[in-house]
Amino acid sequence: MEKQLNTQINADNGAPIMEPQRQFYYMDLAKKLVEEQERAYGRKLTAHVETFGCQMNARDSEKLRGILDTIGYVQVDTEEADFVIYNTCTVRENANNKVYGRLGTLGNYKKKNPGMMIALCGCMMQEAHVVDRLKKDYRFVNLIFGTHNIFKFAELVVRALTEKQMVVDIWEDTTEIVEDLPVERKYSFKSGVNIMFGCNNFCSYCIVPYVRGRERSREPKDIIREIERLVADGVVEVMLLGQNVNSYGKNLEQPMTFAELLREVEKIEGLERIRFMTSHPKDLSDELIEVMAQSKKICKHMHLPLQSGSSRILKKMNRHYDKEQYLALVEKLRTAIPDIAITTDIIVGFPGETKEDFLETLDVVRKVRYDSAFTFIYSKRSGTPAAEMEDQVPEAEVKENFDLLLKEVQRIAAEKAKELEGAVLPVLVEQVNEHDSTLVTGRLSNNSVVHFLPKGDTSLIGKIVDVKLTECKGFYYLGEMTDELVRK
Ligand code: SAH
Ligand code: SF4
Ligand code: F3S
Repeated sequence: MEKQLNTQINADNGAPIMEPQRQFYYMDLAKKLVEEQERAYGRKLTAHVETFGCQMNARDSEKLRGILDTIGYVQVDTEEADFVIYNTCTVRENANNKVYGRLGTLGNYKKKNPGMMIALCGCMMQEAHVVDRLKKDYRFVNLIFGTHNIFKFAELVVRALTEKQMVVDIWEDTTEIVEDLPVERKYSFKSGVNIMFGCNNFCSYCIVPYVRGRERSREPKDIIREIERLVADGVVEVMLLGQNVNSYGKNLEQPMTFAELLREVEKIEGLERIRFMTSHPKDLSDELIEVMAQSKKICKHMHLPLQSGSSRILKKMNRHYDKEQYLALVEKLRTAIPDIAITTDIIVGFPGETKEDFLETLDVVRKVRYDSAFTFIYSKRSGTPAAEMEDQVPEAEVKENFDLLLKEVQRIAAEKAKELEGAVLPVLVEQVNEHDSTLVTGRLSNNSVVHFLPKGDTSLIGKIVDVKLTECKGFYYLGEMTDELVRK
């Protein structure tokens, strides 16, 4: 039976050319192969997908899980499974190192279960030196693919299940966007939605444009249809995803701005909350601010990566804004939407960063007063322009500045959070509290976490309820919900 399937596959007999039909054809084939193995083992086969990267990476993992589900694998929460997939990230060196470290452990699992399949995909696989190293030192890996051909997962699984040697399929870039493949969501009530892929900005420190390819926007009708289906399936909150959502739609046949897309998404009945990420300050339009100010559904939260507060460094980073422009933008946002939460990303130790440059960053942090900030130590990524720059900052100085920044960011964030103590605000209930099952955990519109007594049962999950923020605990709140405060 397996032989017969093999010949069919090799000859590509009957496989449709068109997508996504072609992938559904391969899902059927893979299902038969999995069933065969199940009969041999006398049990179901298990699979585990591990995400190493950002929200886009996490969304890709949901697509992989959707396909694995269709093929018949049972998802498990352990890496001792019949099929383990690492969806990798390479934005900083430590993301990269983590994968090599954990692959060793996977290799040991495979010795115990020789039928085990191991696949690697995601951003790290788009780097030639990574694939070379894997081919040389990690021969036990069955399948390697990249970011551009993830839609072909079912087809690649069939190859990996039927070919004896390591299957490697990496594309340089793509213009293709394949719609309507299965997805398995982590949460029933909220979901990420890709609105665009890739990035054209080439910030000088960043590897993303090299591993995710050129910017491509999805057609608005496809985005709307996906969200309508999600809402019909119980979703009340969507996170629109792109590396720079503010440049959405520029390259569509019929161009459309991000603000126009938001207006369309807002109209979807039953959808309650809209988030998006990430906004590049250089492309944030007045039109977007206006739409946000008027909207009832767009969350009062803007993630606006600063990267550096020094205009000199920003120029070397190729960010296309300076300190003053950034501060003016924040001012404009706050004037139009007074209760907006602003969060950011900051890099410490970019090549050539002096103490004065760093103090400029600290100055912006103090002026803007971020609700929270992700702080990163600069990581040299080979192939990017910054990797070629001289005067890399000594490690001790970077560490000192980083610690100083982190302290300041945390101090301000705690002060900001305190301002909301006592307020009654809508919370989307997300889960039963992990440490105390009498509490549930949810998020405010500004993305802050609240733990509160449900005075009821877990049927609240996925609902938006009003909660009194009784106590601010620094980064999160404790709250109370009374029966009268239930909104729906
Ligand atoms: N597209 C998004 C961010 C993608 S990467 C944007 O432009 O904001 C997420 C964050 O990782 C970046 O905002 C940046 O702060 C950080 N980052 C990217 N490359 C890095 C590097 N080489 N070293 C340290 N941090 C980096
Ligand atoms: Fe990287 Fe800049 Fe693109 Fe963000 S906008 S993904 S930081 S190149
Ligand atoms: Fe990492 Fe790729 Fe996201 S490099 S941050 S997983 S786009």
